[in-house]
Parts: sequence; C-alpha cells; structure tokens
Amino acid sequence: MSAHPTTTLVEPAFAQAIGVFDSGVGGLSVLRAIREALPSEDLVYVADSGHAPYGDQSEAHITQRTLEVGQWLARQGVKAITIACNTATVVAARSLREHTHLPVVAIEPAIKPAVALTRTGVIGVLATRQTVQSDSVAKLCAQYGQGKRIVLQACPGWVELVEQANLHSPLTESLVREFVAPLVAQGADTLVLGCTHYPFLHAAIQRVAGEGVQLLDPAEAVAREVVRRLGEHRRTQGAGSTWVFTTGDVAQAQRVVSHLWQDRATVQALPS
Ligand code: DGL
Repeated sequence: MSAHPTTTLVEPAFAQAIGVFDSGVGGLSVLRAIREALPSEDLVYVADSGHAPYGDQSEAHITQRTLEVGQWLARQGVKAITIACNTATVVAARSLREHTHLPVVAIEPAIKPAVALTRTGVIGVLATRQTVQSDSVAKLCAQYGQGKRIVLQACPGWVELVEQANLHSPLTESLVREFVAPLVAQGADTLVLGCTHYPFLHAAIQRVAGEGVQLLDPAEAVAREVVRRLGEHRRTQGAGSTWVFTTGDVAQAQRVVSHLWQDRATVQALPS
C-alpha cells in the first residue's frame, strides 16, 4: 500500500478551444463567422435547446442558464467565451463577466451600424421579446438613434421555426410576413437581425422586405472581436475541430445542426 495519496490530474477536455453558446442552434450563424475568421482554432458550441427559447422567459432564468453554460465551458478549459445570443447578452452578459476571468465576447443588435446605413431614417429591429424590452437596447437606441426612428419588433415563433430547421414552409413565410411587412410599410429600409436565429430566415425576410431593404447581421463583427480579444498570444494552431453539445434531444439537434451547419459536426449530449 502506498504511503502517499495518488493524485490524478485531469486535463480539461477542450483546453485552448473557443467556447460559443446560444439558447439553441441560432448561434451557429455566429459560429460560422468565427470558423471563417479562425479556420484552425478548435471550437466548442453549446446549444441550450432544452431551455430554448430564452426570449419569453424570466431574466432570472436566462441569467441562471447563461451562468450554468458559461461555467461549464470554463470548466472544459476554453480560453474565451462568445455569447452568440442577443437575449443572453442583454440580460446576463454582465453577470457572466463577473463570474469568469475569461474574455467574454457578446453579440448585441447592430443598431449603431444601422443608423449609419439608413437613408429613410427608419430602422426596424427584429429580436426576441426580452431583447426588445431590455434596458441595453433602450440605451443603444438613445445613444445612437438621434434623429432616426427605430421600431422594435418582437418576433414570437421565429426561434421555434429555426429550431425545427423549418426555413422555407408556408408557415415560415406567413410568420415572417406578419412581423416584417409592417416595418417596411412604415418606411424601414434597414432591418437589424437582433437574434442569432434570424440569419437562417434571411431568404424569407429578404423576400418579404424586398431587395431594397438591407438586413444587418453582426456575426462577422463578433468574429472580428473574438480575433481581437484573443490577440496574438492566445491564438493556437489547433486542428480546426468543431464540437457541438446540446441540452435538448440529441437526434433532433443532430438533424437540425447538419442542415444548418452544413459541415461535419457530431452533436453530443451536454453532460450535467
Ligand atoms: N438566438 C437567441 C438570440 O440571439 C434566441 C433567443 C431565444 O431563445 O429566444 O436572442
């Protein structure tokens, strides 16, 4: 018998990867931009689909989920966390930053660039209920929206469409029309996609809005910010692997992720 206790050093599973998460599969639109900007980094994505949509839930619940998923990623050894969910950002980014020493990059609706681009002076912001009602969005509008008309539009049902990879059905078309047509009728020439699920509905939104209306998705700006925050010293030549975890049904997530990600990615259950 050994006189000394043995210690086992467990290497974090995803040391040096970049962690990315969303309430569901929507954040894959951000993951795609990060993958394009950083082809050889390893990426770990969590779809909290078992708890989606966040947009209609309480702030306390969204904060609790954000901390839980963020801290799980931190325990895996990731070197940075990207919140690929506008709703989680506006409700809980500050809490997550208080609970981790890791760099946290958080997406937010592209209101500032929309103000620079609009010619009619009318901007539509498409987002979840929690996002359109948030203090953060009110602040962005007050800070950048002087002299412009910013119409905030919640889009109930859109997240569920994307979670089902239902991107081109008559139901999709009519739900998109319901929230986009009134904005165009009010003169909006710039629509902010203020939820990371919505870029997957880009074609349907553009069809309803018309070709003259610009759709803004800040995913590439988020990817640039990830690159900037990593800096030279945190960049790694990884294998460019992508791991996807879900808190929802794995078979369903695998089907939807294969459709939306259009690359090889095996979905695993998030271990609790
Ligand atoms: N992708 C999330 C966002 O950017 C969707 C939130 C939800 O689950 O309602 O806001």
